[in-house]
Amino acid sequence: MASAYRDNKLAATNYDIHDLIKKRWSPRAFSEKPIEPGLLRQLFDAARWAPSSYNEQPWRFVVATKNHQEEYDRMTQVLNKNNKRWAPNAPVLMLTLKKDQFDKNNTINKHAAHDLGQAVSYMTFEAMRHNIYLHQMAGILPDVARELFHIPEHYTPMTMIAAGYLGNPDMLPDDLQKKEVSGRSRLEIDEIVFRGQWDNPKRL
Ligand SMILES: Cc1cc2nc3c(=O)[nH]c(=O)nc-3n(C[C@H](O)[C@H](O)[C@H](O)COP(=O)(O)O)c2cc1C
Repeated sequence: MASAYRDNKLAATNYDIHDLIKKRWSPRAFSEKPIEPGLLRQLFDAARWAPSSYNEQPWRFVVATKNHQEEYDRMTQVLNKNNKRWAPNAPVLMLTLKKDQFDKNNTINKHAAHDLGQAVSYMTFEAMRHNIYLHQMAGILPDVARELFHIPEHYTPMTMIAAGYLGNPDMLPDDLQKKEVSGRSRLEIDEIVFRGQWDNPKRL
């Protein structure tokens, strides 16, 4: 099963796009193998080279690795009930945050969440080069994160990311095991892209 389901996860793209994009998916079963610290830092190096509005770089990360047990356990408390069922399989959990305001004039940075997403995307593809998979989660308890990690105001917890190497789907409860091995789908290009006007769309 191990490699067959991975073929099932390969993106059925319309064009010959980059292998790392085809190969990426969001697992819930992770191997116990830790991510070597230097490699983990390398992922954040990729993240920080994402573009951002006014080069504000409004992305922040709080990282917990399993070898720092107390910090890791604290991070698991930020997960909601559903994600707590599987995310603690991952050797690394990281909380992502957006910095809400611009440094130069303290006005709201409306694109902070957008830019954080881009940084995570850069990290995701650098990770894939090393067969490290990321699973992003909106299902977190931001107030708990704020309290447990002393997050200051003007920073907003956005997501948690589980990161690690692929594990055996057998480690998951039945319902999640099914999701772990099922195929992936997407909207078609013409459902998300058009020329002309919204109410009179023309094909690209
Ligand atoms: C911002 C964001 C929030 C997500 N939240 C959750 C979550 O709370 N729990 C979960 O199991 N998956 C979550 N996901 C994973 C998505 O369900 C997944 O990316 C989507 O179904 C597409 O599957 P794929 O990543 O395997 O292609 C989230 C993904 C993103 C980008």
